[in-house]
Amino acid sequence: MMWPFRSYVKFADMDFRTDVHSHILPGVDDGFRTGQDSVKALGLLHDMGVEHCILTPHVYPELYPANNPSSIRNRFSEVSDMLVRTGVECRVAGEHMVYAGVDSGFSEENAGSALLLGGRHILIEMSYAYESRNIRDFVFHLNAVGLHPVLAHPERYSYYSASLTEIRSIADMDTQLQLNILSLGGFYGNSSREKAEAMLAAGLYSFLGTDLHSVSQIAQLSSLKIEKKHVPAVERLLENNDRLWNGEDVQ
Ligand SMILES: [Fe+2]
Repeated sequence: MMWPFRSYVKFADMDFRTDVHSHILPGVDDGFRTGQDSVKALGLLHDMGVEHCILTPHVYPELYPANNPSSIRNRFSEVSDMLVRTGVECRVAGEHMVYAGVDSGFSEENAGSALLLGGRHILIEMSYAYESRNIRDFVFHLNAVGLHPVLAHPERYSYYSASLTEIRSIADMDTQLQLNILSLGGFYGNSSREKAEAMLAAGLYSFLGTDLHSVSQIAQLSSLKIEKKHVPAVERLLENNDRLWNGEDVQ
């Protein structure tokens, strides 16, 4: 698509059809509390052109002891009819915290039954304050059982420098990276924005997500402007998002 005569493009005007990271499943984590708000958010996303949304509640026993694959799937079953009436098709997955002592329990035989984004892709995250000591072992394990780890919002991790040295070392271990699109608007601070821009320019991301936790963040999404120089890279991520929804492995 051609975008003449402006130095930026409104994200809402781009082909944002699939969101791969959100906390819209109500009542399970620090995201949406009520189904009413979830329906409102999905309706607003639908107005922006979103057709598919992957719901990714936190899977982190220390903070959310009730969350596990079966409880999350059960919750999704309870609300899925209500959510789909918004016009947005939803799928449930999970955002898996890499904490000390985490044991995925995945083997080559059962990995396919994990809370996957699509294909064999699994979303993982770390603390914003410190790197998980076992991150390298964990992504090695995931790859060994045939899963493709996708690390959420690396630009938000304060311990990763803008030189991208550490981030590249994670990406080099067969880990894909997911941009929080609001990082480009500076909504998480200047450091996150600078790293996001550098990673985007370096082609380090594979996917983008909203990481939506509340209805109010949709106003931020609506006002988000993407600098023209970043538009081709963002368009590539949007295409990857669609491929992920369709169950294709994205390399
Ligand atoms: Fe998240």
